[in-house]
Amino acid sequence: MNKKILVTGGIGYIGSHTVVELLNRDYQVVVVDDLSNSKISVIDRVKTITGKSFDFYELNILDKDKLEKVFQEHEIDSVIHFAGFKAVGESVAKPLAYYHNNIVTTLNLLEVMQKHDCKNFVFSSSATVYGMNNEPPFVETMPLSTTNPYGATKLMLENILRDFQHANQDFNITCLRYFNPVGAHKSGMIGEDPQGIPNNLMPFVGQVGSGKLKELKIFGGDYETHDGTGVRDYIHVVDLAVGHILALEGLAKDAPAWRAYNVGSGKGYSVFDLVKAYEKALGREIPYQIVDRRAGDIAAGFADATKAKKELGFETQKSVDDICEDMVRWQEFAKKNEL
Ligand code: WQD
Repeated sequence: MNKKILVTGGIGYIGSHTVVELLNRDYQVVVVDDLSNSKISVIDRVKTITGKSFDFYELNILDKDKLEKVFQEHEIDSVIHFAGFKAVGESVAKPLAYYHNNIVTTLNLLEVMQKHDCKNFVFSSSATVYGMNNEPPFVETMPLSTTNPYGATKLMLENILRDFQHANQDFNITCLRYFNPVGAHKSGMIGEDPQGIPNNLMPFVGQVGSGKLKELKIFGGDYETHDGTGVRDYIHVVDLAVGHILALEGLAKDAPAWRAYNVGSGKGYSVFDLVKAYEKALGREIPYQIVDRRAGDIAAGFADATKAKKELGFETQKSVDDICEDMVRWQEFAKKNEL
C-alpha cells in the first residue's frame, strides 16, 4: 500500500496544490484543516482535478485529542505541516494569537507524532527568517532574524524542530523556506483565495485585473533596484508543491537529520516586472498608483537556490508568464463561480 501522508492546512493555497501533487503520485492523503483561511469547496475541486479522493477532518490541531484520533485511525508515514496563521500585518496586531496558534499546534503535532512513531516531518518555513540585514541572494547558512511576530514564530519553530531532532535522532525533519508563492493550478480551479483585501502583491493584482478591486497601490518607487520598486523571488505554487514532494522523498532516503532549504526560483523580479507580465497575460492594463513604502519591507530579496537543487534535485520549472497566465485562468474561474 502506498505511503500515507498527513497534510495539515491541506485545504489552503499551498496545501491544496501539494495535495494535488501527492495524489498525482499515488500517495494516500489525510488532510486536517480548520477552514479558517480556506473553503471546503476546494475538496471537490481537488478531487475533480486529480480524479482521486482523500480523507478530510475539519479540526484545528490545537485540539490535541482530535488530532490523536486521526493518528489512531490512520497509519501516517510522514507529515507536511502547513497549518498556521500567516499574515505579517495581522501578526503585529495580534501577537499572542500568532504565538499561541503557530507554536502550540506544532508542539501538539510533534507530541502526537512521537507517540505514534511517525518520524518524518516537512515544515512550512519562510524566507522571512532572513530578516533585514542580509544581502540577497539569501543562503541557508546566513544569520537569521525576524521583524514581526509571524516571522518570529517561523524562526522559533525552526529552532524548536532542531532541538527536538537533536534529542530524537531518529526523527527526520526538513524546513522549507518559501520565498513568494504565486500562481495557480493550470486548470484554474484552485488558486490563492485570501479572505478580505489581499495583503500580498499578486492576489491584489489579480483582483484589480478581475475588477474586484479598483487600483493597485505600489508601495514605494524609490528603492535601490533596477526600476525603483521592490524585488522578490516569485515561485509558482505548483513548483513549490513539487518541492514538497522532493523534500518528502528526501526524508525517505536520507539519514535522519534537521535540514533547511530555500525554495525559490533564484531570480528577483520587481513589482513593475510582475505588473507588466500580468497585463500581458490579462490583455489589458492594471491601473496603479505609487505610494509610500510599506513599513518593514526590504528593497530586494531572492534565493540562492543551489542547496535544494544539489540535495533535493529541486529547481523551478515555471516562468513569470506561466504564473500570470495560470493566475488569469484562476481569477476567471473564481469570478464565474463567485468564490
Ligand atoms: C511583494 C512586493 C511589496 C502588495 C510576504 C511575507 C512573507 C511571505 C510572502 C508568508 C513588495 C509590494 C505588495 C501591494 C505592493 N508570506 N506590494 N503593493 O512582503 O515579499 O512577503 O509574503 O510566508 O513571509 O513577508 O510579499 O506580496 O506582500 O510584497 O507594492 O498591495 O510587492 O512592497 O515589494 P512579501 P508581498
